[in-house]
Amino acid sequence: MLYRGRRLRKSAALREMVRETKLLPEDLVMPYFVLETERSNVRHPVASMPGQFQLSPDALEETVGAAVDAGLRSCILFGIPEKKDPVGSMAYAENGIVQQAIRRLKKCFPLLHVITDVCLCEYTSHGHCGLVSPEGEIHNDSSLRLLADTAVSHAGAGADMIAPSDMMDGRVGALRAALDEKGFASVPIMSYAVKYASAYYGPFREAAGSAPQFGDRKSYQMDPANRREALREARADAEEGADILMVKPAGPYLDIIRGVSETFDLPVAAYQVSGEYSMIMSAASHGWIDRDAVMLESLISVKRAGAGIILSYFTQEILQRGILS
Ligand code: PBG
Ligand code: ZN
Repeated sequence: MLYRGRRLRKSAALREMVRETKLLPEDLVMPYFVLETERSNVRHPVASMPGQFQLSPDALEETVGAAVDAGLRSCILFGIPEKKDPVGSMAYAENGIVQQAIRRLKKCFPLLHVITDVCLCEYTSHGHCGLVSPEGEIHNDSSLRLLADTAVSHAGAGADMIAPSDMMDGRVGALRAALDEKGFASVPIMSYAVKYASAYYGPFREAAGSAPQFGDRKSYQMDPANRREALREARADAEEGADILMVKPAGPYLDIIRGVSETFDLPVAAYQVSGEYSMIMSAASHGWIDRDAVMLESLISVKRAGAGIILSYFTQEILQRGILS
């Protein structure tokens, strides 16, 4: 037998030597939910996402500090405001919860790369990612101004990178122009370029309190059945000035990650979303799967598919337990 695949699988050292994909601490981005509250030291567990919390700003600082000590390079922030209204005013308020959190984190951890999710759904009373017209439709162009204001206010507070997740048409161009005009030409945009209308976001909506109060997101997020459309979406964002293209969710969309990474020469990110996390956590809690092994396998698969940047709720634990080294 000339070819014996098993020859290269004989020892751990050899397997490591021929390993094609490696997960590195710098690949990982940790999402955090920051809660606007008068109280301090709040760590409110998210029932649908065991191990994840809504954190008051002081608790966020402490949690992030532990992660930074363990090697965390980057995080992405989601805000839970005290008050919501139809136009999502607190998304772009000077003293909004995310703006406060950015200032605090950048002051305590200047080397931490702080990304912000730019969207309106956590701040609007109707829970949609854009403005709602009197006819009950999600209005595209009037939402762009508010999204751009949000991006500019995040950058003004010190955000290192802006990640628009709303899926309105033209938002990358609108954000780029607004950021450039306000003196933030060097702040990169990581666009949720290919974002599906996925049922895997279910647990997140509990974590961020952002479930739509009527209808669904199918008029702006993509149909899970579509692959070629993903390339059109990615192309539009690339042409509008996106610096990094994100695909979301990750695990169920590995073919899409591969397609985007082979078609475009921009860095590719993928978001292992709440439902992916919760399914692993829940099966593991029954003892049906080996949690650590599945956690790492799920992430290496995303990287192997072509994403060099991975947003995952497992990030903090992986770093703190030093499982990668
Ligand atoms: C906001 C946003 C969502 C997620 C990231 N940004 C929710 C949604 O679009 O409904 C999902 C993240 C996750 O499920 O972990 N638009
Ligand atoms: Zn949204």
